[in-house]
Amino acid sequence: MGKRTIPRHIGIIMDGNGRWAEMRGLPRLEGHKRGVARVREIIETAYKMGIEALTLYAFSIENWQRPQDEVSIIMDLFHDTLLEQHPIFIEKDIRFKLIGDRKRLSVDLINLIDFIERTTANNRKLVIQCALSYSGRDELVRAIRKIIDLKIPSQNIHEDFISQFLDTAGIPDPDFLIRTSGEQRISNFLLWQSAYAEFYFTPTLWPDFTKEEFLEAIYEYQSRERRFGKIYNRALNAF
Ligand code: IPE
Ligand code: IPE
Ligand code: MG
Repeated sequence: MGKRTIPRHIGIIMDGNGRWAEMRGLPRLEGHKRGVARVREIIETAYKMGIEALTLYAFSIENWQRPQDEVSIIMDLFHDTLLEQHPIFIEKDIRFKLIGDRKRLSVDLINLIDFIERTTANNRKLVIQCALSYSGRDELVRAIRKIIDLKIPSQNIHEDFISQFLDTAGIPDPDFLIRTSGEQRISNFLLWQSAYAEFYFTPTLWPDFTKEEFLEAIYEYQSRERRFGKIYNRALNAF
């Protein structure tokens, strides 16, 4: 891989907001709020670097099992942040799209998401996929249901075909996945799409994940050799 190749698509599991707050004797909400500040900063940095796609894991299907008050706080924060970022998306040619099971979201939130998606649909500079009420297995189940409902003959099913039925249809697979907070697991994020993603795990909690560390992570990505199962011939400088 060329030394200066930047990832086209970065996925981030933004974890550790609760622990960041608890360590300071603050309510978990404060960690989520501080996390939003980092989201703004990372979007801006990705935009300036010319990254094409950024997928941010904000809330998993499993997270619905959290106490109701935390769930409401996160949804409200998401709503307000989306509204606040909308003019920036318009001004900077950023497309916003949601991935996840919309049926579980409130009508208010769905309306806002639809509006933001519609008004940014033709923006080209950067696409932000926000994973909200998202889980990789759930996404696959919904895709399989759509395929069966369309009565598609089995011989038509192949990998690219399946990709077209996922929430991420049309977006290239992630090259690089970052997870903050020290946990080294995928927690149901982009299961199908991350087949050949490079992983980066950092103990830094999400509210402390600065743009400097983001750049450091990308720098590390640039030192990796992605082989996709092939063998690299150093003499020929090619696969
Ligand atoms: C990530 O932070 C945000 C969400 C999952 C919504 P957490 O809330 O999981 O924070 P920790 O992992 O408990 O510290
Ligand atoms: C993963 O974090 C989901 C998001 C960051 C939105 P969790 O905190 O829910 O994951 P686990 O429970 O530690 O695996
Ligand atoms: Mg967590």
